[in-house]
Amino acid sequence: MAKRILILGGTTEARELASALAARGDIAVTVSLAGRTAQVVAQGAPTRIGGFGGASGLVAHLRDERIDVLVDATHPYAAEISANAARAAGETNTPLLALRRPPWQRVTGDDWREVASETEAVAALGRAPRRVFVALGRKELAPFAAAPQHFYLIRSVDPVEPPLAVPHATYVLERGPFTEAADRALMGAHRIETVVCRNSGGEAAYAKIAAARGLRLPVVLIARPHLPDVAARVGSVEEALAWLGHALALRGE
Ligand SMILES: NC(=O)c1ccc[n+]([C@@H]2O[C@H](COP(=O)([O-])OP(=O)(O)OC[C@H]3O[C@@H](n4cnc5c(N)ncnc54)[C@H](OP(=O)(O)O)[C@@H]3O)[C@@H](O)[C@H]2O)c1
Repeated sequence: MAKRILILGGTTEARELASALAARGDIAVTVSLAGRTAQVVAQGAPTRIGGFGGASGLVAHLRDERIDVLVDATHPYAAEISANAARAAGETNTPLLALRRPPWQRVTGDDWREVASETEAVAALGRAPRRVFVALGRKELAPFAAAPQHFYLIRSVDPVEPPLAVPHATYVLERGPFTEAADRALMGAHRIETVVCRNSGGEAAYAKIAAARGLRLPVVLIARPHLPDVAARVGSVEEALAWLGHALALRGE
């Protein structure tokens, strides 16, 4: 019987993993999305959308759907769903694999200031007006209203509604992957002086980091949240496929 894998997704890696697994005839894979963006990106596998209703809801889902393996391939800043995944996997004895992108590492030429939160990022911008490129999700923008003296260039996938309550803000609607050349041009056109972003890791969003380095601009990086310790943890889709192949063989394939 086909083994049933549930991938908690919302990332490029989740999509790639789902496509690779869906191509195998012996695995029934489903991707779960929170449903945060207006336009759902095709996942290459059957997809369900929406929250489970906390850890207990995820426990019920794992049982109802008779899931054999749970993969947490959510974004490294999606701390709540990762905590729920660890709890629900423990409670149901479901093997859990965490696929987490390694964070970007500082290289020569990077001028990074690491802070713990969006509020700290706002403080790090200082009092004097600056031209700031904010590459954060819609949900993370509210603290920037406390510093209306800056100009903000805000890039997001969906429109920021309502707009940030500041006098000087420009919005760019765009979904990655981005290129260094395009990000450099964008920052140049808006005379950006500082970049604020998360340490997402991966290639799709690295362009702004490389562009900032090229333009010799400082970057305020918001640190990753605490994520649960998961025994099985990998950093790439290839490693995830290898781990799953092994785990499924052990479970009697
Ligand atoms: N945070 C980011 O920067 C970021 C960036 C890119 C993509 N994403 C993706 O967007 C999604 C939501 O991120 P978030 O930061 O809002 O997460 P979060 O704060 O950890 O999760 C909040 C709640 O959203 C629901 N949820 C989150 N991910 C889900 C999934 N894959 N499937 C079903 N329900 C999910 C869960 O609701 P219930 O408790 O009701 O189950 C969860 O408790 C994640 O899938 C993540 O991979 C996040």
